Amino acid sequence: LIHLLSIEGLPREIVTHILDTAANFTSVNDREVKKVPLLRGKSVFNLFFENSTRTRTTFDIAAKRLSADVFNLDIARSSTAKGETLLDTIDNLTAMAADIFVVRHSESGAPYLIAQHVGPHVHVVNAGDGRHSHPTQGLLDMYTIRHYKKDFSNLTVAIVGDVLHSRVARSDIHGLTTLGAAEVRVVGPRTLVPADMAQMGVRVFHNLEEGIKDCDVVIMLRLQNERMSGALLPSSQEYFKSFGLTPEKLLHAKPDAIVMHPGPINRGVEIDSAVVDGPQAVILPQVTFGIAVRMAVMSIVAGNEA
Ligand code: CP
Repeated sequence: LIHLLSIEGLPREIVTHILDTAANFTSVNDREVKKVPLLRGKSVFNLFFENSTRTRTTFDIAAKRLSADVFNLDIARSSTAKGETLLDTIDNLTAMAADIFVVRHSESGAPYLIAQHVGPHVHVVNAGDGRHSHPTQGLLDMYTIRHYKKDFSNLTVAIVGDVLHSRVARSDIHGLTTLGAAEVRVVGPRTLVPADMAQMGVRVFHNLEEGIKDCDVVIMLRLQNERMSGALLPSSQEYFKSFGLTPEKLLHAKPDAIVMHPGPINRGVEIDSAVVDGPQAVILPQVTFGIAVRMAVMSIVAGNEA
């Protein structure tokens, strides 16, 4: 694995190897991640052309825990604003001896363009491109599910909300089918579920209670307002009434079901505060696991594994 651009097409052995490598970075309580010298002398450039809190910060922490030098380009203050192209920016940063580019971009495919452009010793990790793919989120979601549920083969997992605009949903579906989940469901209004879900081996539901019935894992998604035009955009109150996860609605899932969300959450829109702060939510552990998973991805693509 030289670049990580998508989970789609990755063999199960590679996905499992990434998760196992991440587990090796964590201590017994799965919270602390010790500093290791695996990327000493390497330079990681974080290029976030779209906003981020969790992904950008955990990549930064992960690179530092691997002893790499990390550079966070402030895109708003960079020469991108003066019209410099994406690939010219990449050439100039490569001239500063970049080893790994971590790229988030609103255009689907931007990390692929960079991966085709850079030389063989430079690695690209997709940190979210348009509505296409968010592979490290998908991997940390798989890590989280494996942590709490151990085995995928008996699991029914529901992905709920704005699936149409969600790169996380696509990465989770690829991760879950690759790892052999028993059943993957998507649940959402007709306007926000894409047409190709059946081809992806996923069951489609348009009713929340039916869609999460007897599920082991419920993954909630935010309404991606920034990717919607007016006609598609439901009102927050309407949406919450039909698809917002409340403690009462969560009773339809299994009693030991876990509730996940990639963040940022919108309390009272797709999820009730009582669920976010309740005993079944594992939303903050997801964030924590992201550090070890991103360490695993960067050390594997750079060929400097433990
Ligand atoms: N889950 C996620 O990608 O969050 P950020 O947009 O804050 O990075």
